[in-house]
Amino acid sequence: MYDYLIVGAGLFGSVCAHELKKNGKKVLVIEKRAHIAGNLYTEDNNGIHVHKYGAHIFHTNEKDIWDYVNSFVEFNRFTNSPLANYKGKLFNLPFNMNTFYQLWGVKTPSEALNEINEQRKELEGKEPSNLEEQAISLVGRDIYEILIKGYTEKQWGRKATDLPAFIIKRLPVRMTFDNNYFSDKYQGVPVGGYTKLVSNMLEGIDVELNIDYLSKRESLSQRAVKVIYTGPIDEYYDYIYGLLEYRSLCFKNECLKESNYQGNAVINYTEAEVPFTRIIEHKHFDPIETDHTIITREYPAEWKVGDEPYYPVNDEKNMALFSKYRELSQQENNVIFGGRLAEYKYYDMHQVIRSALYCIKQELNG
Ligand code: FDA
Repeated sequence: MYDYLIVGAGLFGSVCAHELKKNGKKVLVIEKRAHIAGNLYTEDNNGIHVHKYGAHIFHTNEKDIWDYVNSFVEFNRFTNSPLANYKGKLFNLPFNMNTFYQLWGVKTPSEALNEINEQRKELEGKEPSNLEEQAISLVGRDIYEILIKGYTEKQWGRKATDLPAFIIKRLPVRMTFDNNYFSDKYQGVPVGGYTKLVSNMLEGIDVELNIDYLSKRESLSQRAVKVIYTGPIDEYYDYIYGLLEYRSLCFKNECLKESNYQGNAVINYTEAEVPFTRIIEHKHFDPIETDHTIITREYPAEWKVGDEPYYPVNDEKNMALFSKYRELSQQENNVIFGGRLAEYKYYDMHQVIRSALYCIKQELNG
């Protein structure tokens, strides 16, 4: 008999498993996919670590979380500095002095600010009523049209004028020549890929793959005193209140017989006419000398049951539905719900680790 059955070998489940084992508990992890690591999973393709469920860059301001992940695996100092390709022209991201130089030829922060402020005037005095107006009110029309509009419309599958203004709360503009996307103190990618990080977390712990907990929940639950469930909360309750909505993604991988396709890990395609949102070239995350390279085109997609749920649609309707499911989950005595799917929440990796550590601390301290 195990003390805990953990459903899902993603980051939340694996941190919980590791912490419980460290505290003398007997743990079984089951996973419905054929591999561990959840959406962090990287697959080794002749030395190139392919991020199978989308590009993952670890970043945090919290030293204890950084030390925690580094205790399992060495991290490199990958700096995320994506580019945008708009109609064949390249622009640096996030919006910074390099971008403003490329857009307008301006060379000083005050010239750039003048240009932005001049363009923002278009909406002066008007309360933005949709995403388009909100973006223009924050950064002006050029940045909106070239770098935001097409990308956002592809991501959401709707026109920017039909999207609510609140989706964009702020759009940071950086008045330095600095292309580092994240402003966090610590940033990197595990040397050898994310799967190694998670497999080191799970060392010495029983893990069974290709098992869907929900298809045999009664017999599986009898194998442990308590369950930690990291799958979709609505599925756990057989969708009795209805489906929680997600946006999905479709990844198309290509192996190319050249060593360096685009010279950068991430290039966004910001025009509406190109159907994908970005191209990832995996070898740049964790550099390696090879005469081939693997790229992935990322296409946003509508989600339906059976598709991979990537981004929760945290609008009013779905959040109201989620709180009904959460109420049910709070009545459970022997099941703990955690992670991005059970909490219907977008979590970055450092946040999901913090949440799992907190969950186990609560559990062990009562
Ligand atoms: P996760 O989904 O990884 O794990 C849950 C596991 O449970 C899955 O393996 C699933 O198969 C399993 N499961 C579900 N139901 C089951 C059942 N019935 N029986 C058995 N197993 C079951 N973060 C960041 O910090 N930097 C980044 O760059 C990115 N990039 C990024 C790109 C994209 C496209 C997305 C969608 C997300 C990111 N993230 C990110 C976020 C990151 O992916 C996220 O923080 C973690 O995957 C969350 O880990 P969880 O364990 O919560 O979920």
